[in-house]
Amino acid sequence: MNGLAWRARVVERLPWVRIPPPPQSFRFLYSSYKMANQIEEIKNKLDIVEVIGSYIKLKKAGANYKALCPFHSEKKASFFVSPSRQIWKCFGCGAGHSIFDFVMQIEGVEFGDALRILAKRAGVTLRRQDPRLKTERKRLYEICEVACQFFQKRLESEVGKIAKDYLLQRGLKEESIKGYRLGYAPDAWRGLSDFLISKGYKSEEIIKAGLAIRKERSPTSDTYKLSANFYDRFRGRIMFPVFDLNSQVIGFGGRILPQKKEELEKEIPKYMNTPNTLLYDKSKVLYNLNKVRMAIRKKDFCILVEGYFDTILSSQAGFENIVATSGTALTDSQLKILKRYSGNLFTAFDMDIAGKLATKRGIDLAQLRGFDIKIITMPKGSDPADIISKNSKQWQELIQEAKSILEFYFESALSRFNKEALEGKKKISKVLLPVIKRIPDKIEQSFWVEQMSKVLGIKEEAIFEELKKISLDLPEISSDFIKRPERSRRELLEERIGILALLEPENLKLITKEEIPLFSQKFSKLISHLKEDAQKKPKDPELQELIDFLSLKGEVEEEVEAPKDFKRCLKEFRNLSTKEKLNEISGQIKEAEIKNDFSKVKKLIQKFNLLAKKIIK
Ligand code: UTP
Ligand code: MN
Repeated sequence: MNGLAWRARVVERLPWVRIPPPPQSFRFLYSSYKMANQIEEIKNKLDIVEVIGSYIKLKKAGANYKALCPFHSEKKASFFVSPSRQIWKCFGCGAGHSIFDFVMQIEGVEFGDALRILAKRAGVTLRRQDPRLKTERKRLYEICEVACQFFQKRLESEVGKIAKDYLLQRGLKEESIKGYRLGYAPDAWRGLSDFLISKGYKSEEIIKAGLAIRKERSPTSDTYKLSANFYDRFRGRIMFPVFDLNSQVIGFGGRILPQKKEELEKEIPKYMNTPNTLLYDKSKVLYNLNKVRMAIRKKDFCILVEGYFDTILSSQAGFENIVATSGTALTDSQLKILKRYSGNLFTAFDMDIAGKLATKRGIDLAQLRGFDIKIITMPKGSDPADIISKNSKQWQELIQEAKSILEFYFESALSRFNKEALEGKKKISKVLLPVIKRIPDKIEQSFWVEQMSKVLGIKEEAIFEELKKISLDLPEISSDFIKRPERSRRELLEERIGILALLEPENLKLITKEEIPLFSQKFSKLISHLKEDAQKKPKDPELQELIDFLSLKGEVEEEVEAPKDFKRCLKEFRNLSTKEKLNEISGQIKEAEIKNDFSKVKKLIQKFNLLAKKIIK
C-alpha cells in the first residue's frame, strides 16, 4: 500500500483523527483531503450489511448479523457484522474492520481497487487522483475494458458480419449479445494491439493483460517481419468477455468460427482463453456469476454448465441461476466462492461413469465440501446449448428430473454391472463405496449403506467394514486460509476484562492506577482511557478499533472461555501476573546462586515470599 492510500485508510477508519501533514507538496495534501472526503461519501452511501451480504450469506443475530467466515474454515459462525458501528469482525481468525478491508480481502485486491469497486457501487465518481493510486491492476482492467469495447464494435461492423451471423444462427438474441458484451476479434496479427498502442498502452501491459503474445526470437520467419515482436492472442474469433464479481472485464474466451476452422489445415483449438494474469485466474472464475449471484442466493441453488453457449442460451430460456466452469474441472476455489451463495448444485456436465476423470473429481470435491449435488442427465452427445436450441421445454424437464448424486451413481453402476454375480457385486461396490464414504452426514451415509445392502444382498456390517478401508484423497485446504494462533489465558482474561469494563465502566474502580501497567500496552491504554472518561471518543485509531471489537464481541458472544464476572476475572488476572513475577524472581535467584551472590539470594527470597502472599485463594 502506498503512502497516500495508507493515509486515506486511516482517515477512512477514523475521520476525526488528525494525521500530521505529510512533508510533500500542497497538492498532495489537498488530494488526500479530497480522497478522505470521498471515502466518507462512499461509506455514507453504502450499507455494510448490503455490501458484505452480496458476497456471503448473512443471518440476523440480534442487532447484528453473523455468517460463516469466508477467510478461514469454520463450522460455527464467528463472523459478525455490526450495522450500527458499520464494522465487521471475525472472532475466529481475527480479520475485520470496514467495507474497504472486506472488499480488499475477499477480492484479493489493493486499497485503490477496493475503493474503485465500492465507489462504483455507491455511484460516486472518483475525482482525478494522485497517480500513485493507479495500481497495476487498474491498468489491466482498463486494457481489458478497452479491448472488450473494441471487440464489440468489430462484431457490429462489416468485418464481424460472419461472426454476428453465426451467433444469431446459434439462437442468440440481440439483447444477449449486448448483455454479455460479445465481440469479434478480427483476423489480423495486430488489430487489437495496434489499437491499444494508439491509446497509449505499452506492449508490456498488453501482454500482461493476456491479450498479446511475445514473439519467439526467430528472425527468419515471415510473421516476424510482419509483426515486430508481439502479436494479438485472439485472431478471427468470437469473443466472450469474462467478468469478475463486480462486472469488470478480466479476460476472454475466444471461439473459432466454423468457416475458419475448415480453412485451416492444422488442428487448432476451438476455444482460446486468456492465460492466468494478475486479474484472471481460471481456477477462480465462474462465468456469469457476476450477473446471477443474488438470484442463486434467492433460489438457493445453482446450475453448473460447461460452456459459454450453454450459459447464455439457458439464461435466454429463462433460467437465471446458471454459471459455467468454462472448460476447467470444478476447483476447490470455485466451490468456496459458490458456497457463499448456495450449497445446492445441479450439474449438467458430461457425466457417465466412464466419463472424464477431471469432471468426476470436481464433483467428488463438491460432495466432500458438503454440497448437495444433483446431476442433470442429458441425452448422449448433447450439451445444454443443443437441447435448448431444439426445445427449451426439454431442458426444464431435465432439470426437474435431476437425480441426487447417490441415485445417479446407483443407477449407473447397476446398469453397467450384474448385481446377481459376485464379480458384479464387487464392481458395483467399487463405484459406490467412495461415493458413500464422501457423504459428510453420518445419518445420510447409513441410509445409503442400507440401500446398498438391500440391492446387493450383502450385510450392512460388511459394507461398513469395507467403508472403513476406503481412504479418500482429501484435497489440500487452500493456503489462503488465515489461521489465528492459540491465545494465552492472559490474553483471554484481558479481553474479558475489557468487554466487561465497556459494559459497565463502574467495574473499573476495582483496578488501581498502579495495576494498569500489568496489562499489555493495548489494554493499559484502554483502561486508562475508560477510567478517565468512558463516554469520550478516543483519538487513537487503534484504541477505537479495540473498543469496537470488544463491544461487538460483548454483544454477540455465546460461549465465554473466561469467567463472566469482572471480579473473578480480575482476581485470576492478578494471580496470573503475580505468578509471572514469581517465576521471574525464581529465575533471578538461580542466577544469583550460580554467581554465589548470597546476599542477593537472600534479598530475592524475601521478595519472593512477600509477593507469594499476594496470591489470592
Ligand atoms: P464446448 O466444446 O461445450 O463449447 O466446451 P461451447 O461453449 O458449448 O461451444 P459450442 O457449443 O461448441 O460452440 C465447453 C467450454 O469449454 C471451454 C470453453 O470455455 C467452452 O465454453 N473450452 C472448450 C476451452 O477452453 N477450449 C476448448 O478447446 C474447448
Ligand atoms: Mn456446446
